[in-house]
Amino acid sequence: TILIVDFGSQVTQLIARRVREAGVYSEIAPFQSAQAAFERLKPKGIILSGGPASVVDEGSPRCPAAILESGLPIFGICYGQQLLNAQLGGRVEKGNSGEFGEAFLEVDDACTLFDGLWQVGERHQVWMSHGDHVAELAPGFRPVASSRGAPFAMMADDARRIYGMQFHPEVVHTPDGAKLIANFVRHVCGLAGDWTMAEFRAAKIEEIRAQVGTDKVICGLSGGVDSSVAALLIHEAIGDQLTCVFVDGGILRAGEAEQVVSLFREHYHIPLVHVEAQDLFMDGLKGVTDPEAKRKFIGKTFIDVFEAEANRIGGARFLAQGTLYPDVIESVSFTGGPSVTIKSHHNVGGLPERMNMALVEPLRELFKDEVRVLGRELGLPDVFVGRHPFPGPGLAIRIPGEVTRERCDILRKADAIYLEEIRAAGLYDAIWQAFAVLLPVRTVGVMGDARTYDHVLALRAVTSTDGMTAQAFQFPGDFLPRVSTRIINEVKGVNRVVYDYTSKPPGTIEWE
Ligand code: XMP
Repeated sequence: TILIVDFGSQVTQLIARRVREAGVYSEIAPFQSAQAAFERLKPKGIILSGGPASVVDEGSPRCPAAILESGLPIFGICYGQQLLNAQLGGRVEKGNSGEFGEAFLEVDDACTLFDGLWQVGERHQVWMSHGDHVAELAPGFRPVASSRGAPFAMMADDARRIYGMQFHPEVVHTPDGAKLIANFVRHVCGLAGDWTMAEFRAAKIEEIRAQVGTDKVICGLSGGVDSSVAALLIHEAIGDQLTCVFVDGGILRAGEAEQVVSLFREHYHIPLVHVEAQDLFMDGLKGVTDPEAKRKFIGKTFIDVFEAEANRIGGARFLAQGTLYPDVIESVSFTGGPSVTIKSHHNVGGLPERMNMALVEPLRELFKDEVRVLGRELGLPDVFVGRHPFPGPGLAIRIPGEVTRERCDILRKADAIYLEEIRAAGLYDAIWQAFAVLLPVRTVGVMGDARTYDHVLALRAVTSTDGMTAQAFQFPGDFLPRVSTRIINEVKGVNRVVYDYTSKPPGTIEWE
């Protein structure tokens, strides 16, 4: 096991993911409880994450002395490097200007982490995001790589097996970063690298059994991959103690309800309650235009429905959800770190404070593509595993402004045409997520000989590996004009179609 100590970075889970990719199990502990986690896990190596604080500031987070003095291999990233250096006797300086984004590293000296990877004298691309930097090395360290803004971009002490780097090896913009992390866990920590998703499945099943005992669990199914995988995993753990609840609040895509209900009832024989709650959702959404207010209302209403169903089946103490890591980090840093809230994803931050059920979230540390691997491991059909993500708040967050039945109907039709054309063009699997957005803006058009004054529809399609960053998908030349024409001809209420080219960041994938 590797212990990852979290100092509040937005990308700490990416470190865990890279460690999993190297075939090694890891756990993340917030710095406040790192010592307890260290004693419990007896790890073979430690990774210290980045974080938004400044080592130089009084009261900034520290690494427990027990870890520093353990004699175990340690790998510090960004804040983690500065912390290692400061706590072991070196000096860290506040920068006047930072380095943000792509940077180039000069490899100055050999180091175990570079085995089979980098040679002295080479230059390599890395990703930087820092204000402070190491100014004077702590005793025992030698510089092994430098960049323009960070003379000690990488420091090493092979004898103590302690390494620090200013850049972020866990993000894809450091192309060799995953290999540096793999070298650390395998070569430096000596771990075998034979951990697989099958072991994750087995371990989670034990964990779920231990958490719920003989109680009943309700699982909110959204129709997406995540909640489906969570439901299958939980069903494998506790059988018919699980009841799935599928809520139709009028904010689902075309055909969604039928597909989900038949997959679970007929294919898997998992008990499923199909709740028709269109009135409840549509009435409550009247007049709501603020994106966070929508998310909060929908989150709360889902919980109301789940609680009512829990009572109906004679008391369920647990609510299961397919929450993934990107949902968690963008709602609130669950480690208690000071990351910023981007959106309240409804199955996380949108939950009401008072809730009578405890949460079961077995996928909370995984990324989407890992959930897909787990889904295949659990035998979920390929068409389901490969489905594009669909957010819990559904079409409601794809209708900026007020959500009405009529707008949902317009959007559903346009979205179905868009996706039908994407499938027909054989592009579905090349795209992470594609959907239409109905804007509260009307523009003037001319159809036949008449003037029209109707909604604008935006089309969005992005590529991504984990939903944390994304790029607009480039369609072949004739695709968008064809879809645009079809939508305007076939969907009453839309007379103009535009395409969204924004990447994430600075945009987000959904519009709200
Ligand atoms: P954003 O829009 O934040 O979306 O870039 C990242 C990914 O998360 C999905 N998403 C959600 N999923 N509940 C979910 O289950 C939510 O509240 C939610 N909001 C966004 C989004 O579709 C994209 O795949």
